[in-house]
Amino acid sequence: ESADLIDRFGRVARDLRVSITEKCTLRCTYCMPAEGLPLIPRDDLLSSQEIARLVGLAWRDLGVREVRFTGGEPLVRRDLDEIIRLSAEAAPGIGIAMTTNGIGLDKRLPGLLAAGLERVNVSLDTINREHFARLTRRDRLESVVAGIRAAHAAGIAPLKINAVLLRETLEGATDLLAWAIENDCQLRFIEQMPLDADALWRRENLLDAEELLAVLGERFTLTPLERDDLSSPAEEWLVDGGPHTVGIIASVTRPFCEACDRTRLTAEGTVRSCLFGDDEIDLRALLRGGASDAEIGDAWRGAMWNKQAGHGINADGFAPPVRSMGAIGG
Ligand code: GTP
Ligand code: 5AD
Ligand code: SF4
Repeated sequence: ESADLIDRFGRVARDLRVSITEKCTLRCTYCMPAEGLPLIPRDDLLSSQEIARLVGLAWRDLGVREVRFTGGEPLVRRDLDEIIRLSAEAAPGIGIAMTTNGIGLDKRLPGLLAAGLERVNVSLDTINREHFARLTRRDRLESVVAGIRAAHAAGIAPLKINAVLLRETLEGATDLLAWAIENDCQLRFIEQMPLDADALWRRENLLDAEELLAVLGERFTLTPLERDDLSSPAEEWLVDGGPHTVGIIASVTRPFCEACDRTRLTAEGTVRSCLFGDDEIDLRALLRGGASDAEIGDAWRGAMWNKQAGHGINADGFAPPVRSMGAIGG
């Protein structure tokens, strides 16, 4: 039986984000605590077969059209090739993407592409080595750059770079954009959301889209583009007449919750209907309890029906969710 994932506000989820691990090779301050997240016992993680079953079901019965694997850092899982291959088999025709920090991507890429990976977004906030090391608490800029170059060489297009907007890296923002253009990447800056593990985010410290545009405008001529892909959260500008672009995901100052088409699975197999919604529905228990596809589909639909209207970051009394970004996957 087949029916889309709709909610009380009339939104339809077409885009599935699957976090497959809480582990990461970096410790970005806006995402992870210095010591990393508590380890999830192996048996509590969804297996590659379980992930593929859920992806297949979402594709066949729930109207999902794209799946994106996230983490933590998805490349940390050795069976990522298998997760992708089994998902592609279970959901033939679904789009398969990954958001990664790029470390080790160069070596893994051939296997991932053969398995069915199509699109890659790489997180990179600065091309200044010292800034990178301070921010991620690891001196690994070179391996990220190697990963991006390999993805480009492999013909992945568009190749997107995500840069969270931070005061520490603002002075390097124009260098990052110049670098992205040289390397044929689509750079997108992202307003930082209150999802850091240490709960240090403060609305009054936010570096927002407007401030970034002023800084970029000193070096580049930016021409706003019509949004063609409403399911992508970025607003885009042509840089110096094109063909390259720069995007801004202004989640905080220009929320796009009313157009949200996301549904999420955590690494432990719960449905998370919103980045900021802590009420999760446990599909792993159903999977392991022998539930039918129809039963799992109904539970998933129920979770999405109850999705909240939006993130509420700008509302009085906003409280960040229990899970930090590293445990949700963006
Ligand atoms: P594309 O389909 O390539 O545009 O991917 P994406 O931008 O949806 O995914 P990506 O993993 O690259 O995420 C980029 C940024 O968008 C991250 O900061 C995510 O946390 C944020 N993001 C993704 N989905 C949502 C969402 O549903 N709500 C909000 N507020 N932010 C989101
Ligand atoms: N706010 C906004 N984006 C974030 N990301 C990680 N933490 C945050 C945050 N607090 C981004 C990462 C990655 C994507 C999945 O989410 O940079 O590119
Ligand atoms: Fe890891 Fe990504 Fe979080 Fe950085 S943003 S700590 S790369 S999961």
